[in-house]
Amino acid sequence: MTIAARLLDAGKEYKTGESTIVALQPTTAEFRTGEITLLVGPSGSGKTTLLSLLGSVIYPSFGKVWVGDTCINDLTEKELAILRLQHIGFVFQGFNLLAPLNALENVMEPLLLQGVKRKEAKHRAMELISKFEMEDRIYNLPRNLSGGQQQRIAIARSLVTNPQLILCDEPTASLDHKSAKMVMDMLSKLSGENRAVIVVTHDVRLKKYADRTIYVSGGRISDTAIEDNF
Ligand SMILES: Nc1ncnc2c1ncn2[C@@H]1O[C@H](COP(=O)(O)OP(=O)(O)OP(=O)(O)O)[C@@H](O)[C@H]1O
Ligand SMILES: [Mg+2]
Repeated sequence: MTIAARLLDAGKEYKTGESTIVALQPTTAEFRTGEITLLVGPSGSGKTTLLSLLGSVIYPSFGKVWVGDTCINDLTEKELAILRLQHIGFVFQGFNLLAPLNALENVMEPLLLQGVKRKEAKHRAMELISKFEMEDRIYNLPRNLSGGQQQRIAIARSLVTNPQLILCDEPTASLDHKSAKMVMDMLSKLSGENRAVIVVTHDVRLKKYADRTIYVSGGRISDTAIEDNF
């Protein structure tokens, strides 16, 4: 088991006009491979902000963030993009599929960016797509897929590069029981294969998969619930 990501007094503030919002207070935490961590908490509490820091999507306003041995504070935007491509799988809240690309092309995209040959990329993408039972929708554009289908394609895209750090923002929100189980079984399997998996969720169905639950409230994290309604 190794440390896949780490925050040291790291947080984020946003300035809008006159006011400053601290979306995440200074936070110290470690995330290990071999574990599924759930991040739970009310809307606006800072969950996506925390996930975005770990995913190297944003820089911290203060403190430091490491992904593996790399401190993201020291990287340029371009270096961050490479780090994300090589090491991180991110399922965004709202999927972020590329609108002009069909389902198959969306899943192949990260591999093509990594320089993997088209034929091999297609083969690897199809393998994952079939695990999520989406073979009959591969030529659909995202707008012609249901919410749950878009979600499964977004998850396939985030896993196709076999990343060490897997970050999912509400991955099961649009999924029925069967698809949610499919997704969580796969994330469990991956954490067993020495990956770190961090999942933001309101979905109580996921509780049984968690090795650890972190509660987020008002931009602060805690290992114990303030109100345990999850
Ligand atoms: N780019 C931004 N600019 C300004 N404020 C922001 C920005 N992103 C987030 N915030 C604010 O930071 C706080 C935390 O937002 P965040 O998206 O992390 O919440 P969340 O816990 O993911 O909520 P939800 O469950 O609704 O997705 C909120 O008050 C939000 O309005
Ligand atoms: Mg969010």
